[in-house]
Amino acid sequence: MLVNGSPHTTIEYLPDQQCVQIIDQTLLPFNFATITLRSLEEFCHAISDMQVRGAPLIGATAAFGLALALRHDSSADHEQLAADKLLATRPTAVNLRWALERVRSAIQGVDTATKSARALEEAETIRLQDIATCEAIGNHGLSLFSQVAANKPVDAVINVLTHCNAGWLATVDWGTALAPIYKAHQAGIPVHVWVDETRPRNQGASLTAWELQQQGIAHTVISDNTGGHLMQHGLVDFCIVGSDRTTASGDVCNKIGTYLKALAAQDNAVPFYVALPTSTIDWTIDDGIKHIPIEQRSTREVTHITGLDQQGAVTEIQLVANSPAANYAFDVTPARLVSGLITEHGIYPPTKTA
Ligand code: MRU
Repeated sequence: MLVNGSPHTTIEYLPDQQCVQIIDQTLLPFNFATITLRSLEEFCHAISDMQVRGAPLIGATAAFGLALALRHDSSADHEQLAADKLLATRPTAVNLRWALERVRSAIQGVDTATKSARALEEAETIRLQDIATCEAIGNHGLSLFSQVAANKPVDAVINVLTHCNAGWLATVDWGTALAPIYKAHQAGIPVHVWVDETRPRNQGASLTAWELQQQGIAHTVISDNTGGHLMQHGLVDFCIVGSDRTTASGDVCNKIGTYLKALAAQDNAVPFYVALPTSTIDWTIDDGIKHIPIEQRSTREVTHITGLDQQGAVTEIQLVANSPAANYAFDVTPARLVSGLITEHGIYPPTKTA
């Protein structure tokens, strides 16, 4: 996708420097900067501090983190230690586990001298496959726009609501929930996106809005409480969100607040779609409410907020005086509230047998 008119991906391996380059997403939307990661500690910090975030991107980052950790020490003990450390950085998104398992099975039985090189190859394969997967999600999701457009006056704008950031910044390129929007825009379909700000970390206001603005797509940032009102007044044609973990029965775990949007959508007969690579499906569990671990992050993300001050400096200010706060990062939307899962293979009902 474009940044100031030039194409970018979110993560890239630089072989000459033996490091990985990422976009530091904690600086957006006010500063665009790339940083390099080399050590296991740098990779773990980048994921847990959310310099990279979004289920597919943390998977790809962890894959490179493990591969580069093996460059210094390719023993079985170090492989286990590095995988454990990376896995512990964020507990909810299953792509982290999926990507680490992929790298580890690719290097099983490989001699220690070539382990890191083989692991790097696998990490690069994960990176490239993610781009193709997300583009395929976009192509399948495009059909939803054509269906809605067929029931509207010619050239009527299609209004889509999204939550958090499931755009290209959350993946390697294209995104999941935003990929169909990018494809619709490229196909000349007039589209407008309602962007939930997504407190506490504001991935909607800071990242999704920035992405859409960079691609020249009409959008409006709304407070997290607005979606239900818009749906009651016919201002949302459909919702598309991403997923951090989808169970075998179609329950969807995504950024906190997704469930409330799904409830409002159901009450107003607004279709509610979830876009996800199949690597996000956890086939080992059915009941997402019971079995998905929900990350709880620092309460400072709730009690404080960061933005531009009047002098143009990025500043953190305090919002909450002396009250306790809680910061649940994800919630689970039961399958019964989901209209369809947009995957790289097509759009499916959220059921085990689909
Ligand atoms: O906490 P984050 O920013 O990593 O959460 C991201 C989301 O909830 C996304 O919707 C999800 O990872 C889907 S990514 C394509």
